[in-house]
Amino acid sequence: MTLNINSSYKLNSGYEIPILGYGVYQTPADITESVVTHALKTGYRHIDSAVAYRNEAPSAAALLKSGLPRSSVFFTTKIPPKALGYDSAKAYIAESLSVTGLDYIDLYLIHAPYGGKEARIGAWRALVEGVKAGKIRSIGVSNYGVHHLEELEGWIKETDGKEGQGAGGVLSVNQVELHPWLPRDDIAKWCKERGVVVEAYCPIIRATKAEDPLLLPLAKKYNKSTSQILLRWSLQKGFVPLPKSVTPSRIEENAALYDFELSDADLKSLHIDGVYEPCAWDPTVSTD
Ligand SMILES: NC(=O)c1ccc[n+]([C@@H]2O[C@H](COP(=O)([O-])OP(=O)(O)OC[C@H]3O[C@@H](n4cnc5c(N)ncnc54)[C@H](OP(=O)(O)O)[C@@H]3O)[C@@H](O)[C@H]2O)c1
Repeated sequence: MTLNINSSYKLNSGYEIPILGYGVYQTPADITESVVTHALKTGYRHIDSAVAYRNEAPSAAALLKSGLPRSSVFFTTKIPPKALGYDSAKAYIAESLSVTGLDYIDLYLIHAPYGGKEARIGAWRALVEGVKAGKIRSIGVSNYGVHHLEELEGWIKETDGKEGQGAGGVLSVNQVELHPWLPRDDIAKWCKERGVVVEAYCPIIRATKAEDPLLLPLAKKYNKSTSQILLRWSLQKGFVPLPKSVTPSRIEENAALYDFELSDADLKSLHIDGVYEPCAWDPTVSTD
């Protein structure tokens, strides 16, 4: 499939998700509107925010003031980690709609699987209700390992069986840290088998591999930056990368990905056997 900046995948919910996202973690609220505006001008159509980032409102303000049709920009937010449970999640959904001024949220995720089964399922139930009420279009999870995904799938199947197909909700996305140094083969396989889109956070590994000997020859060969090589890896693996930058030139650089393609051999050269190097937290391994 030939990709361009407007390419999208169809989610299990039936809605489209633009394949390139723009992350705003650690983007200070007072500059968020301006950097998101720059991202939208550059051509990004997908913003990845979260309650915990404290910048949902200025992210949405950039969207609403952009002049772009609401339906052409995809807005994600997340129930904060350690604040799961039905009542809490329901309150956060209402709060997100209120602070952003959006009529609906494109994608609402559970930020992390902390808190135990009851809290996870409770938050999921609130998301399912949000979809039924037209407040949210698609729902998903973040930082879910295969055991968390199986727990959720089990609950959805059981609920569908008791209350009718669709009653348990539709899982559209799992957002995890993902790059050649953390390839997550087990999670990616589980999701692919079920049509669940995998979003890749920290896709450029927070710029810690800029001088890496595995990436530099590829950057030279394709006349691209090491960040662009990593983002192209993510795109060609079928993921939805969410690069973050507050620097206008880097915002543009991270979207200039469509005039080259890594060869199969070069993609394979980025396969590192048995590697496990998260650069952020890793709640996928939590067992509570
Ligand atoms: N669900 C989760 O738990 C979770 C966790 C982490 C992240 N995320 C999401 O994923 C997004 C991306 O992750 P991230 O922000 O942690 O890491 P990242 O996108 O891999 O890296 C961002 C860092 O790299 C720098 N940078 C960006 N583009 C660059 C380029 N072309 N050349 C050199 N340096 C560059 C940025 O600097 P400047 O900004 O100064 O330009 C920033 O310091 C987040 O914003 C968030 O939306 C989700």
